[in-house]
Amino acid sequence: MKSFSKIFVLTTLALAVGACSNIERSRNLANPQVSGSTLAQQVCASCHGGVAGQDNGTSINPSYPNLAGQQAVYLETELQEFRDHSRTDPAAKDMMWGLAATLTPAQMKQLAEFYAQQKPRPNPGHSDPAQVASGQKIFAEGKPTQGVPACATCHGPSAEGNGPIPRLAGQHADYLYKQLLVFNSDAGRETHSEALERPHGVAMDAISHNLSDAERHQVATYLQSLR
Ligand code: HEC
Ligand code: HEC
Repeated sequence: MKSFSKIFVLTTLALAVGACSNIERSRNLANPQVSGSTLAQQVCASCHGGVAGQDNGTSINPSYPNLAGQQAVYLETELQEFRDHSRTDPAAKDMMWGLAATLTPAQMKQLAEFYAQQKPRPNPGHSDPAQVASGQKIFAEGKPTQGVPACATCHGPSAEGNGPIPRLAGQHADYLYKQLLVFNSDAGRETHSEALERPHGVAMDAISHNLSDAERHQVATYLQSLR
């Protein structure tokens, strides 16, 4: 064995042993003994926020959704969908399928409960006041002439969500807008498929379809501004 590969093997072994002996700080997604709250802080934090041990689930990067204060039932369902590959939008595939692949049902439940208990923070993203005003009207009243129901009837008056219906308040507008396109199965993407990319999004498919692109932006901007 060349000395380089010897060193590599020894370092890898040392890291593996280190990881086992310190289960409280393990990043090992494949070890069912590691708790959900440890995984959240050691692994998920790098994208979803909380690296300094503070503001867990409040992400700085607008393409990574906030998880703090999200509904536990919803979070658990999404993790299951990443694990069983039924949420199939490209970002879910690229970013979340691998991370969820070895999570146990107990770990998914713990992760969901951990994030549901974190305090959501106000979103620092810019929210144009005119967009916010138009978006607020769509959220509260829908677009009756276009067959769009009020979002508040399902997502709650403050967009706090309820069980399987996600919290939207304070979420990044970029992420919300992108999901509205994901739900709209006629969005004219290059790789158009008849199957829904989010299996629990049947209601959202028609809703997003019946909104104009400007209206999708308005409602996403309004939701980002909510505390
Ligand atoms: C490399 C960055 C990255 C890491 C690490 C990461 N995620 Fe994600 N996560 C994403 C992205 C990007 C999305 C949005 C996927 C999409 O657009 O469909 C996402 C979406 C999610 C969602 C869906 C949120 C929603 O509102 O629908 C959940 C739940 C989630 N991640 C949980 C986790 C958990 C738990 C971990 C740790 C085991 C984790 N993520 C680690 C990037 C990451
Ligand atoms: C009939 C009930 C219903 C109504 C009305 C409704 N939604 Fe939803 N919405 C849902 C459900 C259920 C989900 C979760 C889908 C899933 O699990 O994939 C969802 C998910 C979403 C998501 C994805 C959030 C995330 O974290 O990925 C967005 C964005 C959204 N809704 C926006 C809206 C907007 C904007 C309106 C109003 C124009 C609206 N919804 C009206 C039921 C509803």
